[in-house]
Amino acid sequence: MEKNIVLVGFMGTGKSAIGQRLAQRLGMNFVDTDREIEKLTGMTVAEIFRKSGEKRFRSEEKLMAAKLARRQGLVVSCGGGMVLDPDNVKELGRRGVIIRLEANAEDIYRRVMKKRQQRPLLKRGLTLEELRQLMAEREKSYQCADIVINTTSRTIEEIVELILAKLKGDGHENPEG
Ligand code: S3P
Repeated sequence: MEKNIVLVGFMGTGKSAIGQRLAQRLGMNFVDTDREIEKLTGMTVAEIFRKSGEKRFRSEEKLMAAKLARRQGLVVSCGGGMVLDPDNVKELGRRGVIIRLEANAEDIYRRVMKKRQQRPLLKRGLTLEELRQLMAEREKSYQCADIVINTTSRTIEEIVELILAKLKGDGHENPEG
C-alpha cells in the first residue's frame, strides 16, 4: 500500500502493538513516533518532559509529523497527543489514512496504570474519573480519523483483521494486494 496508515488514539489503546502487527501483515515498515523522537533526541519521552518540558516534546512531535508525511508505505503509531495539533493532522492525513483506536475508560485505566512511569502526563494516583475527564477533553481531536475501530474485548489479531477489512471496504487500495 502506497499510502501511510496512521494510528491515533488515547494512551493505552494499543496503537503500538496493533501497528506492529498490521505492518507485518501488510509487509510495510512500522514507525512509532515516540520511539523515533527518543532515537533522535537521545532521551526517553519521560526524560524530555522532565528536562525540557511538554512544549519541547510537542515541537519534536510536530517535526516528526512533517517528516513522516513526506514518506510513503508506512504504518505509523502516533503518541496519544499527536492529533491535538491540527497541523499534525493535516500533515499526517496528506498521504495517509488516519485510523482511530478506541477503548473504554476502564480498559485504558487498567493498561496505562501499569506503565504510568513512562507516561509523564499521568500523575501518581490518577483516578478513573480524572482519566475520563482527560479523554473527554481530547475527544474532539480524535474525531479527525477516517476510520474508527473499537478495540474493547478484541484481540490484536481481531483488530488487525477489522482494520484490513475496513481499508478494503472504505475504498482504499486493496491492502493485501
Ligand atoms: C502522550 C502519549 C504518549 C506520549 C507522551 C504524551 C499524550 O504516547 O507521546 O507521553 O499526550 O497522550 P502513548 O499514546 O503511546 O502512550
